Amino acid sequence: MEAAKFIQKYYRKRKGTDSLKWDALQERYDNADLTPLWVADMDFAAPDSVQADLIERMTHGVFGYSLTPADYFSTYQEWQSRHEQTIFQAEWLHFTTGVVQGIHDLIACFTNVGDQIIIQPPVYYPFFDVVNNQQRQLITSELVETEAGYQMDLEHFERQLIENEIKLFILCSPHNPVGRVWTETELKAILSLCQKYDVLVISDEIHSDLILPGHTFISALTIATELDFLDHLIVCNAPSKTFNLASLLNAHIWLPDQNLRKRYEKWEELYRQTGISVVGQTAARAAYRTGDEWLADLLSVIEGNYQLLTQRLTKQIPEIEISELQGTYLAWLDLRAWLPSLDMKRFIQDEAGLAIDYGEWFSPETKGFIRINLATSPEIIETAIRNLIKLDHKIKGGNQYVSDSDRIGTNRQS
Ligand SMILES: Cc1ncc(COP(=O)(O)O)c(C=O)c1O
Repeated sequence: MEAAKFIQKYYRKRKGTDSLKWDALQERYDNADLTPLWVADMDFAAPDSVQADLIERMTHGVFGYSLTPADYFSTYQEWQSRHEQTIFQAEWLHFTTGVVQGIHDLIACFTNVGDQIIIQPPVYYPFFDVVNNQQRQLITSELVETEAGYQMDLEHFERQLIENEIKLFILCSPHNPVGRVWTETELKAILSLCQKYDVLVISDEIHSDLILPGHTFISALTIATELDFLDHLIVCNAPSKTFNLASLLNAHIWLPDQNLRKRYEKWEELYRQTGISVVGQTAARAAYRTGDEWLADLLSVIEGNYQLLTQRLTKQIPEIEISELQGTYLAWLDLRAWLPSLDMKRFIQDEAGLAIDYGEWFSPETKGFIRINLATSPEIIETAIRNLIKLDHKIKGGNQYVSDSDRIGTNRQS
């Protein structure tokens, strides 16, 4: 199916459907009329098989305590074999309601109050919260922006491991918000450091199916197998990003090591006794069984929206720098050379009418960046582009936007 046909078939108007992205604009941004390009879900309906299996299950009408379908794991492993070739084993799998909940629980289980946990900002901001809210010590090693895009700073990371006696590393792979799909070399280097300093790794691979042409996702599981480091690795992933199922509350925690598994199972017995979501697992199994073509079409829509954004903005507002999108559906834009001040709310919300994720949510170092969600119709991306171009004309047309106190750098006035 072509991208246009996919959009015609699966795009849905979500306003008025209790959608967080569309219906919480007043509450979150103080303006219900903004164009929503923030929270990472999609404006597309799930694959047909998901809807069909859910209708069949709903029609049965009984929603008592349930078991995970017997073919859930095999269906998932077959999906893996067709896509990323990662080898999982059924006994490694534990379910949780969401990846963030899973990471929160893993921190509670495997670390103590005051323990040092390292993350790589700019990064998905709940990583900060799951550490800080549980009174663990947050240590950071910022990604660095280079000519070749964002890179891990391995020297700095190693120094942080040594100086802070890090217990746990939360890896974001692929990386939200910078859109990197880490290479085998990068993953080997970072995991080898964790191995050298005895650091437990949680690899958040929720975006692993959302890979753009020319890039290959490699799971930390594959690398840790090669390094003989599976006894220090836990992987979290889910069908929720891939197939837009976040509200169905079904995510995976993979614990390959028997000792880690036992410790986690004991912790679960004490603190988490929720059963599985029959709705979430029915939907996930259907998606993994037949969602291949749907995903391929979705990726062409995302690629198309990314091209639209980069081509139009590069031409019209060359001061905006857009990171290469290798994976995820989240574009990362550096507006610092364009805007006359870093009063982002004033420019992006009040003037351009966009609800986006602000750079400083991901790192104090990335104020002046924004993240735009591309998993929507090209018309909505067009609206965002048009509004930014209109704002550009306004900025460049008059100097009411540039007061001396506003200036953010000598070379930043247009
Ligand atoms: C890296 C990453 N992890 C986790 C999540 C959220 O996962 P969940 O809804 O399963 O908690 C997101 C959502 O955007 C994400 O980008």
